Amino acid sequence: MKNKRIFPLSIFTLSVLAFVGFSAMLPEPDETAKKVNPGFPEDVNAVLENSCYGCHTNGAKSEKALNKLNFSTWNENSVGKKIHKLDEISEAVVEETMPPEKFLQRFPDKKLSKEQIELLKKWAKKEGESLLQ
Ligand code: HEC
Repeated sequence: MKNKRIFPLSIFTLSVLAFVGFSAMLPEPDETAKKVNPGFPEDVNAVLENSCYGCHTNGAKSEKALNKLNFSTWNENSVGKKIHKLDEISEAVVEETMPPEKFLQRFPDKKLSKEQIELLKKWAKKEGESLLQ
């Protein structure tokens, strides 16, 4: 009788341990990559999180993308560099060069809507101006 009660319990314990062990073994770069907010307004951050952070935060696969822009280290940039990068962000979204076309073919829901482009453009301008003061 005793064994019968221990059996399901140990299966449960083992599965929990296996699950915990397994998750620890498998880092998910895309998930950890998105867990940043450099202090941007919530609505701006939500758009960036959906469409940009996957390639532009620590843990992202493309070195090239990170070298150009890494939101994980945003606050380490000098004021001048932030202003420059805000300009680049605005240009990239307005000209729709970001997110890259190839990526959008695979993940069409990451494409920025007109409203999202407008939001990022206005934010980049305002943020840039406030940094200048
Ligand atoms: C699929 C990955 C990916 C996503 C998603 C992505 N980027 Fe990029 N981004 C890149 C790569 C790769 C480069 C480097 C391009 C190069 O050097 O030719 C880059 C470069 C940039 C640059 C530097 C200027 C330039 O055009 O080269 C800016 C600014 C930028 N991205 C902004 C964004 C913004 C804003 C978003 C979200 C709206 C975004 N990116 C989404 C991959 C990505």
